[in-house]
Amino acid sequence: MKTFDARLIANYPVNERYWQMTLDVSARDTPARPGQFFHIRCGDAWKNPLRRPLSVYNYDDELRQLEFLYLIKGSGTEQMTRMKKGDSLNLIGPLGHGFTLPDQGPLLLAARGVGVATLHALARQARAEKRGVHVIISARTPGDLLTVEALNQIGAVVHTVTDQEGTSSTASVRILSEQLIRKEKMAAIYTCGSRRLSKLVQELAVIYHLKGELATEAHMACGIGDCYACACTVCNDNQLKTVRVCTDGPVFPIRQVVLS
Ligand SMILES: Cc1cc2nc3c(=O)[nH]c(=O)nc-3n(C[C@H](O)[C@H](O)[C@H](O)COP(=O)(O)OP(=O)(O)OC[C@H]3O[C@@H](n4cnc5c(N)ncnc54)[C@H](O)[C@@H]3O)c2cc1C
Ligand code: FES
Repeated sequence: MKTFDARLIANYPVNERYWQMTLDVSARDTPARPGQFFHIRCGDAWKNPLRRPLSVYNYDDELRQLEFLYLIKGSGTEQMTRMKKGDSLNLIGPLGHGFTLPDQGPLLLAARGVGVATLHALARQARAEKRGVHVIISARTPGDLLTVEALNQIGAVVHTVTDQEGTSSTASVRILSEQLIRKEKMAAIYTCGSRRLSKLVQELAVIYHLKGELATEAHMACGIGDCYACACTVCNDNQLKTVRVCTDGPVFPIRQVVLS
């Protein structure tokens, strides 16, 4: 796995807490799959020696452009917001295992907060394959709902729920999800961004015999399997196993993920 430099084409706020970044990755010819991530050096390597992982939000194979959607969380992502068009960013990637799709049938995606950045790339791929895609986006406030317009534009059906409007409880999202699973005859369900949502999706995948995958998040250091900072537990064939999110994930079959 090589590090490489990419030139910044755009970096701008999409609302108060989230930014979007576009990079020219024409120097690289490795395509990035939905669910994979890049490990990014954020500005000053002395101030922030650890890279930060960001999922592929969009990868345009023709233009060779890579996009990230990111939440300003701490010093690393704050430093990212200071980068300007023409600046160079150092990345490692694409890393990890991305999503897998069933042979046919519509998909239900359920994302909370910036988890929609990860699922957005999957929605694009599925729509490019002319599959039906429904996306449930959950957020604290209507102002925090991300990518709704972009998803509508590619023909995904978007359902928004928010804490502020009192529509994002597990019970409400369960009713909505079950209606969609039955009505649309969903073949698979995917989630990212919330433990509560992950538990619900895990239950629904079992009850309705759906293929299900979860894009997990973990604190990472090396990002390439050397340090075990990102270790988590999965259960496969009744056997508990320690895995690394960066190399064994970040996408896992949802039935295998141990959610406390
Ligand atoms: C696979 C993956 C994909 C992601 N995709 C996205 C995305 O598309 N968009 C998005 O907004 N966010 C995404 N995230 C989350 C994003 O990486 C974090 O929000 C970001 O790293 C925060 O960095 P910060 O410096 O702004 O915040 P801070 O919280 O100030 O710093 C985080 C730094 O501290 C380290 N750290 C903190 N606590 C620990 C600990 N207990 N053990 C080890 N290290 C620790 C982290 O490794 C990291 O280097 C993703 C995370 C993962 C794992
Ligand atoms: S971050 Fe080092 S092993 Fe995953």
